[in-house]
Amino acid sequence: SAAEKGGHEYFMLKEIEEQPEALANTLRGHFDGGRIILDEQRISDQDLRDVDKVFVVACGSAYHSGLVAKYAIEHWCRLPVEVELASEFRYRDPVLDRATLVVAVSQSGETADTLEAVRHAREQKARVLAVCNTNGAQIPRESDAVLYTHAGPEIGVASTKAFLAQIAANYLVGLALAQARGTKYPDEVAREFAELESMPAAVQKVLSTVDQVRDLGRRIADSKAVLFLGRHVGFPVALEGALKLKELAYMHAEGFAAGELKHGPIALIEEGLPVVVVMPSPKGRAVLHSKLVSNISEIQARGARTIVIAEEGDETVRPFADELIEIPAVPTLLQPLVSTVPLQVLAAEIARTRGYDVDKPRNLAKSVTVE
Ligand code: G6P
Repeated sequence: SAAEKGGHEYFMLKEIEEQPEALANTLRGHFDGGRIILDEQRISDQDLRDVDKVFVVACGSAYHSGLVAKYAIEHWCRLPVEVELASEFRYRDPVLDRATLVVAVSQSGETADTLEAVRHAREQKARVLAVCNTNGAQIPRESDAVLYTHAGPEIGVASTKAFLAQIAANYLVGLALAQARGTKYPDEVAREFAELESMPAAVQKVLSTVDQVRDLGRRIADSKAVLFLGRHVGFPVALEGALKLKELAYMHAEGFAAGELKHGPIALIEEGLPVVVVMPSPKGRAVLHSKLVSNISEIQARGARTIVIAEEGDETVRPFADELIEIPAVPTLLQPLVSTVPLQVLAAEIARTRGYDVDKPRNLAKSVTVE
């Protein structure tokens, strides 16, 4: 009923709007003023300290949350991080031992590919930390440590609030590792946590773009394809934006690392093609920002319709943006928590305009329990 959907036509929009709460609930209880706390830890602090390599394994949107995590964990912990699709991981004979930490990210905690990756990792003596939204699910039960996301039940098949909560939880995993390894002082961990705590309000702010983005979605709903470009943490956001559009609107969509534009994707640019660009902060990442500005001007010169997600007050992009969607200024590593939101709304509205069931896209299941 409409009441269940919070007055919306579909659950996904309700769940998109619940994201500030999902983030706040996920952070709550995981910092006691001095230390990041996991929900379950059947692995010693010494073992966490001895970790010398991290794999993140996951599927779908959860995999994209892992790609974001790589930037944070490498930066904070000075540990090599590989992010791998769970369905590829165990068939590749990955190099694992007891100093390897495998972070298994799964909303349902029941995804067969991820579960089998966990089992393979444990057979090879690696330690497994689960990031999961479902209490007592199989993946956390078989893991050495668990951090629960508290996004609440997610009805929409395409992940939204669970995805944002996964990103936040992965950051907590990074901070927990940094504190165990001593690559961050306690006051630095506290500062990072405080930044995270400011994110629900930032996401609330970005929700004020919903009407603008829905209107845009209606205007571009008959496009043949949409491209998404980003760099640094904006690259996984571009991948997620494209995945959402494929899942919901059955539209050809691809996400690219913007630096790759000249190595191929630029050949796809044609008159009227919508290209969504996720801009880094002009202050936080000035060099990348200016490279992206030149990318946008190139694609606009070739006739693309540029849709630019940029920090508020970013005046340099304005001349190149056919549509400008403003997001609040936040720390660089945390930007995916705000920049993803308009892409979720865009995909949902394009799907709705095309007449599709936003909550139950064809051929997809909420949780895939077969390999
Ligand atoms: C399915 C869902 C996706 C989800 C993926 C991984 O494909 O449709 O939205 O991202 O599974 O699910 P998990 O429960 O492991 O996070």
